[in-house]
Amino acid sequence: MLKNRFLLTIISTVALGGFLFGFDTAVISGAIPFIKEHFQLNEALEGWAVACVILGCMVGALTSGYFGDLYGRRKVLIITGIMFIASALGTALTNNFTFFIIMRVIGGIGVGSASVLSPTYIAEISPSAIRGQMVSLNQLAIVSGILIVYFTNFLFLGVGEDNWRYMLASESIPALIFIVALCFIPESPRWLVKKNKEQEAIAVLDKIYSPTESRMVLDQIKDSLKNVNSVKISELFEGRMKKVLIIGTVLACLQQLTGINAVIYYAPTIFMNAGASLASSFWQPVMIGAINFIFTLVAISLIEKLGRKTLMLYGSAGMSISLAFLVGAFYFDMLEGYWVLIFILGYIASFGSSLAPVMWVVVSELFPNRLRGAAMSFSTFLHWTCTFLVVQTFPWMLAFMGGAFAFGIFMVLSVFTFYFIFKYVPETKGMTLENLEKKYITSKKSTYERV
Ligand code: GLC
Repeated sequence: MLKNRFLLTIISTVALGGFLFGFDTAVISGAIPFIKEHFQLNEALEGWAVACVILGCMVGALTSGYFGDLYGRRKVLIITGIMFIASALGTALTNNFTFFIIMRVIGGIGVGSASVLSPTYIAEISPSAIRGQMVSLNQLAIVSGILIVYFTNFLFLGVGEDNWRYMLASESIPALIFIVALCFIPESPRWLVKKNKEQEAIAVLDKIYSPTESRMVLDQIKDSLKNVNSVKISELFEGRMKKVLIIGTVLACLQQLTGINAVIYYAPTIFMNAGASLASSFWQPVMIGAINFIFTLVAISLIEKLGRKTLMLYGSAGMSISLAFLVGAFYFDMLEGYWVLIFILGYIASFGSSLAPVMWVVVSELFPNRLRGAAMSFSTFLHWTCTFLVVQTFPWMLAFMGGAFAFGIFMVLSVFTFYFIFKYVPETKGMTLENLEKKYITSKKSTYERV
């Protein structure tokens, strides 16, 4: 009981990185109309003010694995927290648009880093039997961040012409809590072993496992880290590691290419495009946030029972079907009533209960201990590149090719995702990270073992 509480405190602290990820992603949706007015922006610059953050995410994703391996996950997460504060206050206080963009990109580096390091740390500290649920807590934190920010944006709406400054600055409060809380948690035991700090690692493991189990876990970690000093980045692209890297990376990319952030970033635009009034275009996205949150809880309750693969197969099938209906609604002009909302909610429920959290879980489990940081960075970098692609092209597709075409592309990609998961993605439920590594990277034999 006490041990679980220790673990839960650590994981909740680290998952605050996910909360800030969600907060930072969604805060701009409420602030942008006022920012546009304040800086006198045209549509192109308005788009830039929204999307520039993703460039930062790409940089953060690419570099944080390396720095996380070098200095430790916890230290780099603290720096991430400092970036969130700098970005929140910098964007809120400035009257210079270029400075505003620079500070937003810095916030993006924080989001990208948190998107790599929070799931990495959580996967590395959690016992295998509950690891999926624990990493999914990070996704719950992301969707909570999105939901809360809708609320805080709403709270600050009426405070006058500086309302956007309050919206943006409010992020510094959870960021500060994140930094302070991080000071009280230990480093990831797997990272400590990697850095030859065995005694410190044992002290952490003893707080999570019984003494015998913790010695066993330590031996497994040591075993998987043999030859760690000779790690070369080129190893990522060799032999079986290459295959695992491709599977993880394609999965991470498909999680974006099936269109989630077209919905999250542009929900009001989609509803307006389908003919909804301004007021409905405002409350319907709130339902998206709520359904996303509720179905993340569904995923958490099912992930250790059904397994990752089954959950993702159900989810991608549900996404494909919902998108097929959505394409039909746009194609046959069934835009009256709530059809568009219903099909989008079906899509969000399917995504939220499967691919959303499970992709992060599988990617954090699949890569071997010695290469996890670099491999996570690589796949998450391409994941963010796909986010950028979707977020940049979607408004154009919607305006010039129509909803049926735009969602048709996401539908085809969802069907492909189903096929890809069915054919290539292995089940990673219930195995230690080290046994997964043995099974998929180092040997043909596998030992299924629960710790
Ligand atoms: C997942 C996606 C992220 C998306 C979020 C929405 O975390 O990776 O891009 O914004 O789900 O819930």
